This record gives sequence, C-alpha cells and structure tokens, in this order.
Amino acid sequence: MTSLDGAEVAKHNSRKSCWIVLDSKVYDITSFLSKHPGGAATLLKQAGSDATTEFKKYHPLDYVNDLPPEAHLGAIDPNTLGQLIKPKEQQDKPVGEASSDNELPHLSMCVSCPDFEKAAKTVMPRKSFIYVSTSANTGASLATNLDDWTRINFRPRVMRNVGDVDMSRSIFGHKAPYPFYISPMGTMGAIHAAGEPEMIKGAVRKGAHMVVSTASTKTTEQIMQSFVDEQKRLKDSSPTRLFFQYYMPVDRQKAIELMRIVKKAGYKGLWITVDTPVLGKRTQDRVLQAEEALAVGIEEDSTADWEAGGENAFAPAMGGRVVSGQLSPHTTWEDLSWIRKEWDGPLVLKGIQCAEDAKLAMQYGCDGILLSNHGGRQLHTAPSALMTLLEIRTYCPEIIGKLEIFLDGGLRDGSDVLKALCLGATAVGVGRPYLYALAAYGAQGVERVTDVLSEELATGMRLLGISSLDQARPDMVNATRLLNEMWRPDTVSLKSRL
Ligand SMILES: Cc1cc2nc3c(=O)[nH]c(=O)nc-3n(C[C@H](O)[C@H](O)[C@H](O)COP(=O)(O)O)c2cc1C
Repeated sequence: MTSLDGAEVAKHNSRKSCWIVLDSKVYDITSFLSKHPGGAATLLKQAGSDATTEFKKYHPLDYVNDLPPEAHLGAIDPNTLGQLIKPKEQQDKPVGEASSDNELPHLSMCVSCPDFEKAAKTVMPRKSFIYVSTSANTGASLATNLDDWTRINFRPRVMRNVGDVDMSRSIFGHKAPYPFYISPMGTMGAIHAAGEPEMIKGAVRKGAHMVVSTASTKTTEQIMQSFVDEQKRLKDSSPTRLFFQYYMPVDRQKAIELMRIVKKAGYKGLWITVDTPVLGKRTQDRVLQAEEALAVGIEEDSTADWEAGGENAFAPAMGGRVVSGQLSPHTTWEDLSWIRKEWDGPLVLKGIQCAEDAKLAMQYGCDGILLSNHGGRQLHTAPSALMTLLEIRTYCPEIIGKLEIFLDGGLRDGSDVLKALCLGATAVGVGRPYLYALAAYGAQGVERVTDVLSEELATGMRLLGISSLDQARPDMVNATRLLNEMWRPDTVSLKSRL
C-alpha cells in the first residue's frame, strides 16, 4: 500500500484539492465536498488534517468504504503525523455563558425534564446543542407539541385504593416497567463521546425499551453488541429490548440488505419513518452552517443535516440533486408489500399525522403506528401527535385495539404520558430529554430521566385514582379545548377520503 507523508497531505487543504486522514488512511474527498449532507464547510475545516475524531462523532468509520476507489489514496506514514495541519478550532464552547452559577448542576438537582436541557447547556458544544434543539421553520410545530399537553386536563376519581401502582406496559409482547421508551435519535456520538452504547447502558439499567436510529454514529451491529454486553453485565435481568428505526435507503438492494442486517442482529421491530421523504427546514442548523461556510470563505453551502446524512454520508448524488443520506422521497404504500416479504416481525409506521393514514396503515397490514411530527423538525405547523390521536378517536376509533398505537413529541412529564395512555396509546416515545441527559451526565442521566418520568407517572396515576394503566380511560381526561380545534370534514365526508 502506498505510504504518504503528512507534509504532502497538508498541501491538499482547499476546495480545489481536499485530502483528509481517517484512521491512519488518506482520502481525497474533493469531489465529495459538494455532496456532503452536512455541507462542504464541515469537511473543509478538516482539510489536510487527521479528521478521525471529528468523523467518529457523526458516522461509523466504515462509511469511508462508500467513497469511490480513486479516493482511497493509501496509508499515512505514522512518523509524519506531526506535519499534518491541526484541525481548525471547533466551536466547542458550551452554549451557556461560563460563570459560577452556570456550572453543571449536581444530578440530583434535575427533578423534572426541563432541568436536563438547562444542565446540557452548560456542557454541550453549541453545534451539538443546535442539532438537538433545532426544529422546523419558525418552531411552531415544536411549540404546539409542548403546548397541547397542557391543554388537556384530568378528571380525577377519588377514594380508589391507590396504595400500589403498576406502570408496566408491553410493546409487541415485550414487557417493560414503563409505558414510555427512548425515541430514535441519530448521531449520538456528537452528544456524548461513547455515543449510542452510553444511552443503551442507561436504558438497560432501568429496563426501558429503546428504538435505535438508522442514522446512528455506530453501526447497527455494534449497537446491538453494546446492548448484549450490558445485558450480560446485569446477568440478562433487564427487560429492555431494542427496536430499529428505519430510514428507507433509496436503493432497493441496499434497503433489503439493511433490513436483513437489522433482523440478523436481533432487533425486535422495524419502525419505518414515513414523515421524512425530504428533510424539513432545520432553521438553526442553517444559521450555523452559514456561519461555518463563511468562516472557511464559502458564501453558499448545501443544507446541513447529520440526522439524515448519518446513515450514508458518502451516498452519491441522485438525479443531479444531492439526496441527503438515505432518505427516499419515492416511497409509497405499495412498497409495504415487498417490505413485508423481507420483514416478518412487528412493523410500525413512524410519523402518521392524520386519521386517513392511520386507517391505511391498518389496511396495509402494519402492526403499529407512531403518531409523530418528528419532534417538530419536519413539516411546519404539522399537528401534534395528541391532536392526531384525537382525530383517530373521532373518525376511525375501530383501529384502537387492533394496532399498537404509539405517539411522541413534547412529552416532558409523566402526566403527559398518562394523558396519552388514557386516550388509547399503547406506549409513548420521549426524545430530547434523554439526549440532553446523555450530554450532561451520560448513562446516569439517562437513568435519572427514566426515574423522573416514572415517579411523575406513578404520582399522576395515584392522584387520578388508578392503580394500573389498564384502568386509564378516555373519560379521565377533558380534551374539549383540543377537540374544539380539531379538523372537521366540510362538504366531503371523511369516509370517502379513507
Ligand atoms: C436530535 C434528534 C434526532 C432525531 N433523529 C431521528 C432519527 O434519526 N430518526 C427518526 O425517525 N426520528 C428522529 N428524531 C425524532 C424522534 O424520534 C422523535 O420523533 C422526537 O424527538 C420526539 O419529540 P421530543 O424530542 O419532543 O420528545 C430525532 C429527534 C431529535 C431531537
């Protein structure tokens, strides 16, 4: 294999010729710059330098294998590493101002979900914080997600013997102590040095289920291995199970290959994300990307998104337009038939946003639906999952009980979880609070979020007058305010649309 010295690599540090070192090997990424889903500036900052550490935050290292053969230039002479350019300083200052009252609080000071966001601000690099907190356009969908939970009230019953409460729930037969799970979120390597395995450690220790993202920093198999290792450490006593969130690769063969990997690795269900045929406009990401581009002398850069770019950052441009990572805008309901042939386990559509599609999912043989607007990161002014659940209750209640119904978005309190269950949800996903906790405290933070939510839930159940989640019923909440705002068919009846 050719050996290159650091001084030679260092010369290729511009848009005209851009080389980087990854895991002791040199790559010419010049022709890939304009295709990088995260934008050219992110790569140019690493030009002529060893980019291994930065790359590993976002992608499994073996993604470089997708670069064309001519981009693989050879090994770097280890004695010449000192001649490489030092990577441009990362914007890794925490978001919060450094001051004595802005130090990372003791974990015990985090007593509710919003506390983890505040804690994360004291330690998270600005870029990572923006990745987690960003939402679509003006942020209206995210705001609605949060707000709608407060617009439903409980109708408590009293004197019901609530000494003991049972919060357990099963997802496709896998029982967990809680009716909430960790939502799939990409690129955890940018949130915590140990990435997904650290999140899994916290989940397994508490017995919470988790859905693993296609856009993870580690490979599908590595993540499963970290789960198996943690289970072994606990003598297989944890009820935690892993499910897999699937961004459908554009290429059919690759799509099938990924499904087979997921199945072989032992994931317990496939959550197909259907609300992301293209990326939503992640406003804060755009601002950051513009700043980064200007810093390396570029005025315009392509749209950044690690979440979608994570799965296959070196995927080729399609049809003259950069396809961000693995997202396929061409997917239709008919695709479910070949997917079904490949995947015989539980199948969930993630990102259902109206009653019509909920019903279609049932007709197409899905086992579950996840009502979600992707944490307010996709369609501007999309409905909250709670509103979609109310639509389903109104227009196609027959699907409740036939499909497992999940929802996510803006759940920040155990009482929110309880409201969703009263209205018929099987279980709910919690996203950002877990990522903020991971950033600030690692696995211990993940455990703490689980404790906080479950304690709030247990208290909520007692105060509502139920001792088991099976007793949670729609008449225990007053959803009148939201129902008043619910979409109503005008001239054409909904039945004809279904
Ligand atoms: C940083 C971040 C990354 C995400 N990555 C993915 C992903 O890779 N795949 C996916 O289907 N959803 C992804 N989501 C959406 C979550 O699965 C979930 O729908 C959402 O976060 C729930 O809202 P919440 O954060 O308000 O709890 C991501 C969300 C965030 C905040």
